[in-house]
Amino acid sequence: MHSEELQRAREFEQKYGPYVAPELPRFHVTGSIGWINDPNGFAPYQGEYHLFYQYHPYDTQWGPMHWGHVKTGDFIRWQRLPVAMAPDQDYDKDGCFSGGAVEMPDGRHLLMYTGVRNVRREDGTVETFQTQCIAIGDGVNYEKYQGNPVIDGSALPQGGSVHDFRDPKVWREEDGCYYAVIGNRPADGSGSVLLYKSSDAIHWEYVSTVAACHNQYGKMWECPDMFYLDGKHVLLTSPQEMRPIGLEFHPGNANVCLIGTLNPQTHQLDREHIQAIDYGTDFYAPQTLLTQDGRRIMIGWMQNWETSGFRMPGQRFMGQMTIPRELRLENGRLCQMPVRELESYRRNGVTYEKFTLTGEQTLPGIQGRFLDMTVTIAPGDAENMYRWFDIQLAQNMEYDTTIHFDQATNILSVDRTRSGLPCDIVNVRKFYIHPHAGQWKLRLVMDRYSLEVFVNDGEQAASTVIYTPLEADGITFSCDGTVVLDVEKYDIVTE
Ligand code: FRU
Repeated sequence: MHSEELQRAREFEQKYGPYVAPELPRFHVTGSIGWINDPNGFAPYQGEYHLFYQYHPYDTQWGPMHWGHVKTGDFIRWQRLPVAMAPDQDYDKDGCFSGGAVEMPDGRHLLMYTGVRNVRREDGTVETFQTQCIAIGDGVNYEKYQGNPVIDGSALPQGGSVHDFRDPKVWREEDGCYYAVIGNRPADGSGSVLLYKSSDAIHWEYVSTVAACHNQYGKMWECPDMFYLDGKHVLLTSPQEMRPIGLEFHPGNANVCLIGTLNPQTHQLDREHIQAIDYGTDFYAPQTLLTQDGRRIMIGWMQNWETSGFRMPGQRFMGQMTIPRELRLENGRLCQMPVRELESYRRNGVTYEKFTLTGEQTLPGIQGRFLDMTVTIAPGDAENMYRWFDIQLAQNMEYDTTIHFDQATNILSVDRTRSGLPCDIVNVRKFYIHPHAGQWKLRLVMDRYSLEVFVNDGEQAASTVIYTPLEADGITFSCDGTVVLDVEKYDIVTE
């Protein structure tokens, strides 16, 4: 039996979603209609990959959180499924917040999420309580467990907050046990990631504080994920209230990756490295899964909380996911590239080899808005060494989004100031790249409302939302001095 709240959300989405469908990105996940934020429950289930998301179908602003639902066989074409959960119980009446999913040994689908319950005090203040809950289903319909919540404040380490205790990412290990990492606010008021363990997904015990922020990298750490990759343990988390650190971490809602070794006795991460996950304007709350062929795939919310209030007039959806990305460690750093499945949607290839660029030029056949393009940039004439190089995309007389490289500093910037957003928000991000013997490479993936930049085979990524009319489909290359370009451009066709 579905609750009234769930039934209403399902009917609403079915009735009004089709009107919005033609406006949506083609191969990036969004809700059918309304608002989405974090990816949730990104995990294999019965031979396919399911993805849920924080969802408020009734408005393009955040509201009482539901879980929207899609699934895919190849990470590029997604099938919509009905809304999976609505806030319809006393313990989650103010939201089914983020969480994870896992296939149970008997073939059922387990969702683990944060139930939010707000209590209004006599003086008008609101206190929020966050507990961890489960729902079990068949890949379409889910029933919340009668004994929810399964983890509450009584299972917190000393000083842990019941008000900021959220976003369980659950997985199963070869020992047959379930594990979950959960974000928490410890006594120092900043952030930490807690590890829990269970043999049946119902009775959970606190194992350890895997990592703590100590007020160093932001405050509350939201949406943790932890996995083993290329011989190391990797912890991803999204801190609130970050202070900027060089060009590595920007202020506000940021994203960090901690790499190290999980101590087998203490179950704490001995950290060897910390870095940003994505250097663009729009990236938050990523989750990963492991494919059958052993690839660790990450998907993130391609948006930033600070700027999420701004949109185009009349827009009927808000929020989208990044392209899913294959992760690897290289020289101790996290690297990422779009899933290889994207390549089978490439059409109409156009290539230029060793093209010498001087001044500003367009290249016949190189334009478009649904594309996958790789550009290799090498210095040209040594006598006439270039100092800067630009690519303008989604461009016409009125609009462009510009990638700018400054050769003296190795700083790359992605600038969407003229991309069409009629709002004075953060429009530029800068970060350091690392040319190899003077040469460097960009892979650019564009969909209707986004640009994702991958530098040097994924050493860095930068994701940016743009709202540029589709007729602005020009691409222009420019530099001072000379550069030599290899360009390989494909349209992405998913129909
Ligand atoms: C992160 C977050 C999570 C929370 C969810 C609510 O973007 O704040 O911590 O579960 O969004 O929608």
